Amino acid sequence: MSARPPVLVDIKFNPEGVARVLKTAFADRGSINLADPGHQARDLRAVEYALLWKPDADLFARAPNLKVIFSGGAGVDHIIGMAGLPEIPIVRFVDRSLTTRMSEWVVMQCLMHLRGQYAHDNHQRQREWAKLIAPEAAEVTVGVMGLGILGQDAVAKLRVMGFNVIGWSRSRKQIDGVETFDASELDNFLARTDILVGLLPLTPETSGFYDAGLLAKLRRNGALGQAVFINAGRGKSQVEADIVSAIRNGTLGGASLDVFEAEPLASDSPLWDLQNVFLTPHDAAVSEENALFRHVETQIARFERGEPLQFVVDRAAGY
Ligand SMILES: NC(=O)c1ccc[n+]([C@@H]2O[C@H](COP(=O)([O-])OP(=O)(O)OC[C@H]3O[C@@H](n4cnc5c(N)ncnc54)[C@H](OP(=O)(O)O)[C@@H]3O)[C@@H](O)[C@H]2O)c1
Repeated sequence: MSARPPVLVDIKFNPEGVARVLKTAFADRGSINLADPGHQARDLRAVEYALLWKPDADLFARAPNLKVIFSGGAGVDHIIGMAGLPEIPIVRFVDRSLTTRMSEWVVMQCLMHLRGQYAHDNHQRQREWAKLIAPEAAEVTVGVMGLGILGQDAVAKLRVMGFNVIGWSRSRKQIDGVETFDASELDNFLARTDILVGLLPLTPETSGFYDAGLLAKLRRNGALGQAVFINAGRGKSQVEADIVSAIRNGTLGGASLDVFEAEPLASDSPLWDLQNVFLTPHDAAVSEENALFRHVETQIARFERGEPLQFVVDRAAGY
């Protein structure tokens, strides 16, 4: 056994999967898994690396000698506001499989709205043979908010399906064949958008961002004849009461939500019963444990060789 301190793991998802993969991960130093009752009281003072997803509030007090924090997912909003967060690098999870899964979800939701899948599902249950004539994807403009790792992959795959795609981000991006807008051009971007896809991180700027005022600025006279809102970024970026009103008063013709203000979504939320609304339980792009632990091993090896860490969060920007 080497003298290297074990890696601390405090991840509040899929405990069986985490325990299984931890049997072979970090072979050179071992790990402390706080989900394991036998580990919960362990002394964490020597720990240098922590892999966290919604960690316990006292974690940083218990582990005062951390050198790097790894997020168990692409987002870091579950860590960034925590009391006692040390001034050390925070590395988020970036992985091909996670990116691919998100794009699958985004493309599927856009296609379901394009092709009237909600109506088809209803017709099928009623044994009704009812043809729907949908516009072509090229007649519909999908506006992607957030042109980071996930947004740019979704843009590329939406384009393969033939959609007209435009994009919006804090700083303007150059993407071949895609008209892009920066933060100051929000209204122009919204006025051109038939289907809005939210792939933004949760920060003070994006909290409560998708509200009635924003949704009302989407184009409603495009080929779909309605505006659609799709969000797989973070639920606290959306005002659910406004989405419900927008669906009921026709400002929105449909929505797809993978994330919610409070998760799990309350069983009495009006969102469950709305017409042309698809809900998924924050599983658009899950972090696969094998890939997550390999990524952390790779980054620790880089760090210990003196190479720069990858995917480090900009603490001032909050993502
Ligand atoms: N539902 C799920 O299963 C799931 C899974 C994984 C991730 N997510 C969510 O997806 C988010 C995005 O992930 P990512 O890897 O693509 O992140 P990323 O690479 O950091 O990209 C974030 C994008 O959002 C833009 N942005 C941030 N704040 C903005 C603001 N105030 N105004 C305008 N644009 C802003 C950034 O602009 P710049 O390019 O100018 O920096 C960037 O283009 C994550 O933070 C997480 O919350 C959800």
